Amino acid sequence: MDTEPLAGGATAPPDPATAEEISRYIVAEATWAPSVHNTQPWWFSAEGQRVSLYADAGRQLTVADPDGREMMISCGAALFTLRLALRSLGYIPRTRVLPDSAQPLLVADVSWRERLAAADFEKRLASQVPRRRTHRGGFDPVPISPSLLAAMSEGATRDGATFRVMTDGGQRAVLAAVADAAEQAMHGDSGRIQELITWSPPPGSPRRDGVPSTSYPRRAEHTDPNFPGRDFAHGQGWGIPPLSSARAPRIAGVVGLLSTAEDRPVDWVNAGQALQRVLLTAAACGVSAALHSQPLELPWLREVIRRKLGGGHPQLLLRLGAVIQTEVSVRRSPGEVLR
Ligand SMILES: Cc1cc2nc3c(=O)[nH]c(=O)nc-3n(C[C@H](O)[C@H](O)[C@H](O)COP(=O)(O)O)c2cc1C
Repeated sequence: MDTEPLAGGATAPPDPATAEEISRYIVAEATWAPSVHNTQPWWFSAEGQRVSLYADAGRQLTVADPDGREMMISCGAALFTLRLALRSLGYIPRTRVLPDSAQPLLVADVSWRERLAAADFEKRLASQVPRRRTHRGGFDPVPISPSLLAAMSEGATRDGATFRVMTDGGQRAVLAAVADAAEQAMHGDSGRIQELITWSPPPGSPRRDGVPSTSYPRRAEHTDPNFPGRDFAHGQGWGIPPLSSARAPRIAGVVGLLSTAEDRPVDWVNAGQALQRVLLTAAACGVSAALHSQPLELPWLREVIRRKLGGGHPQLLLRLGAVIQTEVSVRRSPGEVLR
């Protein structure tokens, strides 16, 4: 029996494995998907050679995300990770997205029967699942190869979304300005502030969800143009100290916009799948990503982005670049999410 440990992640099951072993493994991997405020708004059920992924409406951000768009993007990222985990075991996933209109929270059914050895690039992406971390701050002034950017755009298309790199200085300035406007607006919104506090526990918290203080910098880093991060520490001085006391020049990095042609729940799930593919593709090449969803949570700013930059319905703003990452995140255990 072969048991192959994947660095930092769950231990791959033996080959051949029982359906139960496979279910537990792929759910364990899926939990490492990114989610808004690390709400992990999902739960899973397993039956034979099938796992169902459900959105957990109890974990939806009711103030910032009343339509559940970000919840579905997060679930889409978990779905991509689940499928990738099956591929890494050499199974072909059969996926039905939103298969039952009477159950809008049933995001997908994923089953497996046929086998096909995983390709090298699938193994490389899968190995990044537990290692990838969201970055919050500037990047080192190192260029990203055009072929990597092309691979990310091409990958997003495969999942039914568009990933556009904003090379034009004017477009980058528009996106920085809307991120700033959103952050300013949020500072005056007590409902949003309270929601953010609920999902950003203090240092030393035993919670396995929310954005921990080990995952954001103590001091905000300014870049030109500047993309302000969320105030997870809400003025308490929490966060990780800088790696060195020297203030290295930092850049905003490559700015990209993830969009979809339509704006239905299925498009949000697709955007989430594309997001995780883009993030893992970047991580496999040593490139980190910062995510900015503040301007997309405010309908009028989302409309500004749509009008000024075109390209369909904007779903998420990303920055990409090289940086030494020290962020640590948390997740609930597979036992808590597999019912
Ligand atoms: C839909 C969505 C929106 C997000 N928005 C932001 C954001 O505005 N700011 C931020 O710092 N991180 C954002 N994130 C990243 C999450 O905070 C992050 O995935 C979560 O804390 C887990 O950490 P990890 O990605 O390092 O595993 C977002 C993630 C998703 C899926």
